[in-house]
Amino acid sequence: MNRKYRKTIIAGNWKMNKTPSETKEFMTAFKGMMPKGRWCDVALCVPAVCIPAAVRAMRETRVGIGAENCNANASGAYTGEIATNMLVDAGCKYVIIGHSERRAMGETDADVNAKVLAALEAGLIPIMCCGETLEQRESGITSEWIAMQIKAGLQGVSEDKIRKVVIAYEPIWAIGTGKTATPDQAEEVCEHIRTVVRKLYSSKNARAISILYGGSMNEKNAFELLAQPDIDGGLIGGASLVPEKFLQIINAANQPTA
Ligand code: PGA
Repeated sequence: MNRKYRKTIIAGNWKMNKTPSETKEFMTAFKGMMPKGRWCDVALCVPAVCIPAAVRAMRETRVGIGAENCNANASGAYTGEIATNMLVDAGCKYVIIGHSERRAMGETDADVNAKVLAALEAGLIPIMCCGETLEQRESGITSEWIAMQIKAGLQGVSEDKIRKVVIAYEPIWAIGTGKTATPDQAEEVCEHIRTVVRKLYSSKNARAISILYGGSMNEKNAFELLAQPDIDGGLIGGASLVPEKFLQIINAANQPTA
């Protein structure tokens, strides 16, 4: 983290877990535990049907609610899809874009790019995900792959909008596997992402964007990961489903670092 130049963000990604009723239960429990003082930005990205319950429960708090996907089109014949203005109207502040689980369902870099542009246009904060497979890491092409995903995902994002984008580095081999990247491995790629952004935009903006790590981040390893200079927060799956664990990660993000 580098609190001087950028925001620390702890974001939960619930994936396809919890019903609206369970959302309400989680939020009630979580609200009861939230510390009183100042803390980092916190986001909870939840299934679309849980957004109203989450927004209602968190209305008076500083927790921002987000969606896990969006459609890049403004409206029309896209059965089952949700447009960015619908998410805004429902009270969302964030939207996860290009998660590897969605890319595995066929989402391309061009789709990710269109969604990032649509999210920015609507005033949402896109959390754009990137990450390599184990095979790519082992064949030594992680840097090239990540640079390609970042460049493709950010095409057409203007200099004045780039600060609104949050990037999440999620090595696919670390997601849901309990196999976290080491702090050094995670830092190496997050630093590389910032370098890629610096080549595309001003160094001032590259310094200002928040880059999150995701992939089996939990209450035990969060502090060490967040202590890295280019890791500005976390995108947390499994551990964001349990209020106590999610809170411990937030607490880790609020500890003073050396
Ligand atoms: P995990 O998921 O924390 O359960 O590994 C992270 C993610 O996929 O965003």
